[in-house]
Amino acid sequence: MVKTGGLADVSAALPAALSELPDEEIDIRVGTVAYRGVDNLPGFSLTKTFVAQTPAGALTIRIFEGRLGKGNVPVYAVDPEGFFDRHGLYGEDGGEYSDNLERFSLWNHALLHLPGVVGYSPDIIHANDWQTALSIPLFPHVIRPKIQAKPHRSVISIHNMAFQGVYPLSQWHWTGLPPAYNSFDGLEFHGRLSLLKGGVQFADLVTTVSPGYREEVLSEPGGCGLSGALRHRQDRFVGLLNGIDDREWDPASDPFLPVHFSGSDPTPKDLLKERMRKEWGFSPGERRPMFGVVSRMAHQKGLDLLAETLLTMGEKGDLGGEWIVLGSGDPNLEGLWRTIQALFPDQIHLRIGFDEPLAHRIIGAADFLVVPSVYEPCGLTQMYAMRYGTLPVVNPTGGLRDTVADGKTGIWMEELSENGIRKAIFKARTLFLEGHEIKEMRTRAMAVDSSWKNRAREYIRVYRRLMETPPWHNPLE
Ligand code: ADP
Ligand code: GLC
Repeated sequence: MVKTGGLADVSAALPAALSELPDEEIDIRVGTVAYRGVDNLPGFSLTKTFVAQTPAGALTIRIFEGRLGKGNVPVYAVDPEGFFDRHGLYGEDGGEYSDNLERFSLWNHALLHLPGVVGYSPDIIHANDWQTALSIPLFPHVIRPKIQAKPHRSVISIHNMAFQGVYPLSQWHWTGLPPAYNSFDGLEFHGRLSLLKGGVQFADLVTTVSPGYREEVLSEPGGCGLSGALRHRQDRFVGLLNGIDDREWDPASDPFLPVHFSGSDPTPKDLLKERMRKEWGFSPGERRPMFGVVSRMAHQKGLDLLAETLLTMGEKGDLGGEWIVLGSGDPNLEGLWRTIQALFPDQIHLRIGFDEPLAHRIIGAADFLVVPSVYEPCGLTQMYAMRYGTLPVVNPTGGLRDTVADGKTGIWMEELSENGIRKAIFKARTLFLEGHEIKEMRTRAMAVDSSWKNRAREYIRVYRRLMETPPWHNPLE
């Protein structure tokens, strides 16, 4: 899988979990992008080449096929003539590729030919975010007349309203949609086009990744301009909590951890912390809480405010404990964190980059994971943390509010401000130093079952209900 954040975790773990539900027989296929390097991925091989008509004319499409999870879910990585054979996924050096609408549209066209090419007639197509949103209005125009014998249903899942795939109308031709869709009832969005709006308008069902975030996006500013469109679909819009892959994130067997522990045997967690403290260069001795951060460096994640808070706290020389911070993204934020690290080298260990093993080690070794997000559709790291007995310290917004219980499995900031963050850090420190309550909270956090095993069942229920409900979509001509 290709990963820049939680969408990758979800698009691998949910299909795997669905296919492994013991009493369900569902035939799931995953379509994804053939990014650079797919031909060298273990288990992936070129299985089909075909020619498809697209807004760029006839294109040669290559399909690399692999398998996912114990249920051997087929994964098709679709390559429309090398459009994704690039260094970045969406762009490079902080900028977006200028032809993103063209490349993602051609990929959506290619994807819709998949069922015909591999001989599969889906009951439901399930799109995620702006990247696949176009396939929802496009489906009846590209596919149904040709191969789809039975009526299908479509679902769009929104993982983040802030990313909609908005492009100038001068690029409309790349969508391949009939002109009627270039309207307020279609994809038109303040004089531009929004791919995500197309998904919201035409999907039979719209989902997002937590009930809390669902409420937030039904009004502005949470809806990022689409709250009206979402309110219009309100009775076919549900919030379903993400889950976690509890095999990949299991403190009892995590291959990235040098020491293992579990809910029934939590003591080795202290040993792990000591091992990692040494590795990260913290001085031995003093008993101090360890605060971890594993995050995209983006304004969404509140890392600018956290950095400012630490700078202010640092004026008194005390950051509340030891900090181990891993993140990458916005170059300004990366720079800000480098500055803090240089100011307080004995209190912060910083790693700029994307480093999966280190993410596991931080989440395993820290006492607290700090997640001061401005907004958070669901958030996965707080759930991973709880499983590892690492208490999340969160701004209770969206999925963070839905998944972390204040004072029971984590700590809520009173407000998202320097003061709110500082108070939460000191509350955490007190908990740590007093020692008794934190143990109970850890035990409780580790006992929370956030696994996809349970949450995938919600999707099954929703899919079932969807198949029993008449289709909503009404293709425009
Ligand atoms: P988002 O998708 O908004 O970034 P989530 O909490 O849903 O937030 O998912 C983030 C995922 O990306 C988690 O699996 C987390 O461990 C991982 N992650 C984030 N930043 C890094 C990083 N710098 N290195 C390794 N993994 C990271
Ligand atoms: C997005 C959201 C995050 C969510 C993830 C997976 O990246 O920012 O909150 O957990 O998608 O749904």
